[in-house]
Amino acid sequence: MTDTAQQQRLKAGIRKWKDRRNAVILGHNYQVPAIQEISDFTGDSLGLSRRAAETDADVIVFCGVHFMAETAAVLSPDKAVLLPEPEAGCPMADMITAPQLRELKARHPDATVVCYVNSSVEVKAESDLCCTSANAAAIVASVPSDTPVIFVPDKYLGAWAAEQTGRELILWEGYCPTHACITPDDIERARLEHPDALIMVHPECLTQVCRMADVVASTSGMCRTARETDVREIVVGTEKGLIYRMEMENPDKRFYHLSPAALCPNMKLNTLEKVLWSLQEMRHEVTVPPDIAERAETALRAMINSGG
Ligand code: 13P
Ligand code: SF4
Repeated sequence: MTDTAQQQRLKAGIRKWKDRRNAVILGHNYQVPAIQEISDFTGDSLGLSRRAAETDADVIVFCGVHFMAETAAVLSPDKAVLLPEPEAGCPMADMITAPQLRELKARHPDATVVCYVNSSVEVKAESDLCCTSANAAAIVASVPSDTPVIFVPDKYLGAWAAEQTGRELILWEGYCPTHACITPDDIERARLEHPDALIMVHPECLTQVCRMADVVASTSGMCRTARETDVREIVVGTEKGLIYRMEMENPDKRFYHLSPAALCPNMKLNTLEKVLWSLQEMRHEVTVPPDIAERAETALRAMINSGG
């Protein structure tokens, strides 16, 4: 798609201000195409966290949702981390609070707590280990087999990690409203409509959906499989934004969205206008109190140092 004159102006402005601020733009795989195009790096939560930890830029503009910017602020405490749209949150991350996790821990005092990165920094500070969708099973498997594991907040990612590792996990009742829209019926329909296609889904999907798919992977894991497979038709069971990146990287392959309902309104709140404004005004800076950051960092370092 060619840019309108207005989009060209906005992109030129963003480039100018990015240089002026010595900034890097990190964009999640679900961002709208224009944001993916101006991002210095597009990736999943694990890839973006690693980039945030190692960048030598002075400013990180995080085009994603709040917990991602918070994670970057913990991993890069000497940088200014900007979230262009302060209302871009993650409903799943809001499904557990630190007091709720403390209460769960009190009921299972011997358990190791693994939290999904889609959580608040206060919840991370109460956790022993953090994981993303790319390394949830590896992180769970790293806990000694005789130690109980609490997994929060995503019950579906937790169930998937439990199946992969053969471990029984103490799960929290959280879930992603976007991925919960994808149903087993969608998979059955896709098999009929695209019998030769590879069906890939995100592990935030319902357990039955994960079991019926050919591949279960993080967003960047799905992109990697799309590049490497010889199959030419791929059904994508996650937020729609990922398909744009897949089409750009694989112009010879065809991609179909598994469910038209799988849209994340929060991920779509970032726009070129807001990115330009955030660089000009240095808004909205996401900061984390040092005592909380210090406690969350141990769990986050385990996450970025684990494979996936
Ligand atoms: P990924 O880490 O796989 O990109 O997932 C992040 C997310 O929010 C999925 O809904
Ligand atoms: Fe959160 Fe789901 Fe949106 Fe990912 S897709 S940011 S888990 S609401």
